[in-house]
Amino acid sequence: MRKLIIAFVIAVLPGMALAAGNVHLEKVDIDLNNKESLQRGAKLFVNYCLSCHSAQYMRYNRMGRDIGLTDKQVEANLMFASEKVGETMTIAMPSEKSAKWFGTAPPDLSVISRSRGQDWLYNYLIGFYKDDSRPFGVNNTVFKDVGMPHVLWELEGLKEPVYNEEHHRTGWKYVSKGKLSPAEFDASARDLTAFLVYVGEPIQQTRKAIGIWVLLFLFVLFVVSYYLKREYWKDVH
Ligand code: HEC
Repeated sequence: MRKLIIAFVIAVLPGMALAAGNVHLEKVDIDLNNKESLQRGAKLFVNYCLSCHSAQYMRYNRMGRDIGLTDKQVEANLMFASEKVGETMTIAMPSEKSAKWFGTAPPDLSVISRSRGQDWLYNYLIGFYKDDSRPFGVNNTVFKDVGMPHVLWELEGLKEPVYNEEHHRTGWKYVSKGKLSPAEFDASARDLTAFLVYVGEPIQQTRKAIGIWVLLFLFVLFVVSYYLKREYWKDVH
C-alpha cells in the first residue's frame, strides 16, 4: 500500500502542479527543411527582434548557408548595420540601458528555443493582447506581465480577450487591424518559431542526415558480421 501511495505521489502530483501553473499551449507544426519558411523567419527576426535581442552564437554567413542564401543575399536583405557577413548577430543596445527601459534586459535568443521549447515560443509570439494596466499597454498569455512590447502589432493588430460568465477566455476580439489577417499572422509566427528553433541547434538537420547514414552503416555491418560469425562457427558445430 505504501508503495502504491508513493507511486501515486511521484506520478500524479507533479502533473497536477504543472497543470495548475501552466496555461494550455497550442502545438506548433514547423518544418526545418522548408528553407523558404526559415528565410521568412530570418527576415522577421532581423526586422523586428534584432534591435533588442542578439543571437550572438550565430554568424550571418553560416545562417545564410544553412537557410539557402548566398553571402550577397544575406548582406542585401538581412543586414542593416555595418557588420561584415562573417560576424555574429549582436546588437548595439547596451544591456544596462535596456534593463532600465524595459525592467529586464532582452535576453540573447540563440538558445531560447531549447530552454522554452517551440510550442511555448509560438504561443508567446501569438499571445500578446491589450492590457491597459501594463506599461506598454499589452500583456501575454504565456508570460504574465511581460516586459516586452508587442513588437509585431503592426502586422497582427491588437486583440482583446473575450470572456464568458465563468471568466474563461473564449476567444479574441480585434480592437485594431494589422497588415496581416489572423491566419497570415499565425503563419508568420510559425516561420519565426522555425527560425528560432534552427538558431537553437543549427546542426540539427545535418545531425539527422548523418544519423541515417550511421544506421545504414550499422545495418550493413550487422549483416556482414552475421555471415562472418556463421562462417567461423561452421566448423565448430
Ligand atoms: C523593444 C525591444 C524588444 C524587441 C524589439 C523584441 N523584444 Fe523580446 N523581449 C524584450 C524584453 C525587454 C524582454 C524581457 C521581458 C521580461 O523578462 O519581462 C523580452 C523577452 C523575450 C522573450 C522571452 C525570453 C524569456 O525570458 O524566456 C522572447 C522569446 C522574446 N523576447 C522574443 C522576441 C522576438 C522573437 C522578437 C521579434 C519578433 C522580440 N522578442 C523583439 C524586448 C524586446
